[in-house]
Amino acid sequence: MQRFEEKTVLITGGAGGMGVSHLRGFLSEGANVVIGDVRDERGRAIAADLGTHAHYVHLDVTSEADWQKAITETERLFGPISVLVNNAGILSRSATIEKSDPGDFRHVLDVNLTGSYLGIRATVPSLRCSSAPTRRPSSPARSSSPTAACCSVRPWPPARPRTRAERGKDKPCRSPCTPASTRSSTPAPDRPAHPASAPSPAVTPPRSGRSSTTAWPR
Ligand SMILES: NC(=O)c1ccc[n+]([C@@H]2O[C@H](COP(=O)([O-])OP(=O)(O)OC[C@H]3O[C@@H](n4cnc5c(N)ncnc54)[C@H](O)[C@@H]3O)[C@@H](O)[C@H]2O)c1
Repeated sequence: MQRFEEKTVLITGGAGGMGVSHLRGFLSEGANVVIGDVRDERGRAIAADLGTHAHYVHLDVTSEADWQKAITETERLFGPISVLVNNAGILSRSATIEKSDPGDFRHVLDVNLTGSYLGIRATVPSLRCSSAPTRRPSSPARSSSPTAACCSVRPWPPARPRTRAERGKDKPCRSPCTPASTRSSTPAPDRPAHPASAPSPAVTPPRSGRSSTTAWPR
């Protein structure tokens, strides 16, 4: 079992240096990844290169409307988001405060700070849904039915089995969860197996649970 099998990961700034590295790492651990960036051409090319378990959406992290669109598209394709990586960031164009432009400073805060805030704010309902208990589909046919009906937030994996009283404290989710059109451990006929699930001679098994020397998919 890979660490992010069947998980949906949204990475902002995914068309940039570290973002690309992050998404390759998640992909190699079985995740479906969505790249959100403002560099559309580059982002689309990267997603196409990575295959059907990667997708690009235009996402300016300073725009609330873009966040909503990106989340809707992500959920439609891959199901509720399990991991948000607020990676998008910019540097100030000025070398010193003295020579800096306040407009530029505000823009840096807007992207680096407010962008992350807006992202967390917009993604929380989806994160709740992804941590909700869902029944595993027993067959590909059943997997297409909408199953995510209620949500609760709690750490995963649980430290211990919860008591009946604890389970009763779960509150129903107020936000509707969008069922994924493709959320299944068994790929649809027109959907190839996740690249990370195919055995590859280039992959070196990790020596421990934490660090991995896995070669990135190219
Ligand atoms: N590279 C480093 O050494 C380093 C060190 C510390 C922190 N960081 C942080 O890590 C993150 C990634 O760094 P990197 O070196 O890969 O940067 P990068 O410049 O290569 O990539 C950043 C990406 O963010 C995207 N972006 C910029 N504004 C955006 C916006 N408004 N909405 C969406 N996407 C936007 C860019 O298009 C780009 O693809 C940044 O937040 C950076 O501040 C980097």
